[in-house]
Amino acid sequence: MCGIIGAAAERDVVPILIEGLKRLEYRGYDSAGLAVIDYPSHTLERLRVIGKVEVLEKSLKQTSLCSPIGIAHTRWATHGKPSQENAHPHISRDTIAVVHNGIVENYAPLRSLLEQRGYEFTSETDTEVIAHLIHYYSQQGMKLTQAVQTSLQELRGSYAIAVISMLEPNSVVAARRGSPLVIGVGIGENFVASDVAALIPVTQRVIFLEEGDLVTLQRDNYQILDFSGTPVTRPIHVSQLQADAVERGTYRHYMKKEIFEQPRALAETLGNRIHNGKVLEASFGHHAQHLFDKVESVQIIACGTSYHAGLVARYWLESIAKIPCTVEVASEFRYRQPLPNPKALVVTISQSGETADTLAALLEAKRLGFGPSLSICNVPESSLVRASDMVLMTHAGPEIGVASTKAFTTQLLALLLLCVVLGRRHGLSAAQEAEIVHAMETLPGAIEKALGLDKQLQVLAERFADKHHTLFLGRGIHYPIAMEGALKLKEISYIHAEAYPAGELKHGPLALIDNDMPVIAVAPNDALQEKLKSNLQEVHARGGQLFVFANHRAVLPASEFLEIIELGEVNEIISPIVYAVPLQLLAYYVALIKGTDVDKPRNLAKSVTVE
Ligand code: G6P
Repeated sequence: MCGIIGAAAERDVVPILIEGLKRLEYRGYDSAGLAVIDYPSHTLERLRVIGKVEVLEKSLKQTSLCSPIGIAHTRWATHGKPSQENAHPHISRDTIAVVHNGIVENYAPLRSLLEQRGYEFTSETDTEVIAHLIHYYSQQGMKLTQAVQTSLQELRGSYAIAVISMLEPNSVVAARRGSPLVIGVGIGENFVASDVAALIPVTQRVIFLEEGDLVTLQRDNYQILDFSGTPVTRPIHVSQLQADAVERGTYRHYMKKEIFEQPRALAETLGNRIHNGKVLEASFGHHAQHLFDKVESVQIIACGTSYHAGLVARYWLESIAKIPCTVEVASEFRYRQPLPNPKALVVTISQSGETADTLAALLEAKRLGFGPSLSICNVPESSLVRASDMVLMTHAGPEIGVASTKAFTTQLLALLLLCVVLGRRHGLSAAQEAEIVHAMETLPGAIEKALGLDKQLQVLAERFADKHHTLFLGRGIHYPIAMEGALKLKEISYIHAEAYPAGELKHGPLALIDNDMPVIAVAPNDALQEKLKSNLQEVHARGGQLFVFANHRAVLPASEFLEIIELGEVNEIISPIVYAVPLQLLAYYVALIKGTDVDKPRNLAKSVTVE
């Protein structure tokens, strides 16, 4: 986790580093810092703070730091608590400064070794060993590039780093082993960062470094070495990302902006993947047809919200595509020693494409001998995309709010596309396919309509803000939507929320029901509504406050204990996608009333690149 950025330019890079860090905060935000070789004093200067980048920005105003070269970091604590001492950059003997994303697994023996060599440690982090190692090799007469290379050979783990040195004040050296890193190629200035979004304000020309690459960059040139130390050329891509795509515009929070971007994000994800009532199989890549032909079952692997998307897809895959499907949390799958099935399509779902557990689970599935792999992902060139045989990109655009919204609904749409192409091979007729495609086409409009509940949900949120717990109920395909609703609420409002399949109510959670425990039911007008109604009666009879999201008011007679949030007629196929939206809005407004940091809830991060 953590975000890193480095810059070498003719102009002052401090504002560039700060702007880049703000765009990397989704990777962690418990402390932040930067190091520059100050001009004109020619000293290595560092500033570190506990808290978010805006705190660092404020502290900078008290200084006159100005430099054409520097590195910066926003942290999500792994080794050592969030504190000023543990914040990056870490410095060795006023000479070497390092920022680091990832984990050095063998830092303990390295620390002892460096202590024996006389190095003094001032933090609890694993990063500090990197700074001292590079310093050690620099003192042996190595140039910075070689000192970094030699140091990295001693490290075990997964990381990306950026380094500056007083001994070579014009260079930034950066390297990746397991964590992403991109170079930004400017005009007379060069940059490096954890991802493209951080660089977009300064350049759209980017190079995605490959595993094991190391780059030495100055303001007017850069050289890349591969894992064996051989100079290599990597292609320059022109990023399509727009600087304003990651700006908040008039919205108070990214999360709200992203919720409201869903109609467009869904339309983009559907894009030209359908034609004349059919899903175009080529959307999954050239080899898709041949690979899908062999598939007899589906194994979905994901984490967090993406896992919930997988759970929804299981219902579609089994009921529409008539293909067996299992869904598992990546951190469980990777250590469970699952029995491999060479005819099982392994589908990984990830907004970021960098979630360490999901990536490791995919590699494990491959090692064990599962069938072909498909990644459903929102970040092109991410590690997961590159490790998969097939890819179906969600075109949600950058998602900055830690609580996933538009990434989730676009993942669902992508999974529905998959369901159709697999279904064709298992008896899905052209007429059924056309019906599903039609439903997908109506999705942006249906979401637009659900967003019309905004004001009503804002008012409703007041009924939850003083509660400590909330129960979410759903049945069938809407049970994972209830799970996602509960996750949204707990993530950003810190209200304890859990979801139950409504039929399980009387096997435990009913004991919790009283007038202090609101119950939210996701109850569209599907085949299970009758059954759900009796579950709701059970809550009602015990004085529980019920909030029912349904197509029509007719679900239950309204009373002072029961509020119906009416979504109107919704096509059954796309119903789970539509019902996710009001739950996102409700969580948002509850968090707003509670005054939490909606986009950056405590202790969480957008992209979990550590195990
Ligand atoms: C973190 C994020 C969640 C996300 C999960 C999986 O926990 O806060 O929003 O759902 O990681 O991330 P991925 O990028 O793999 O979808």
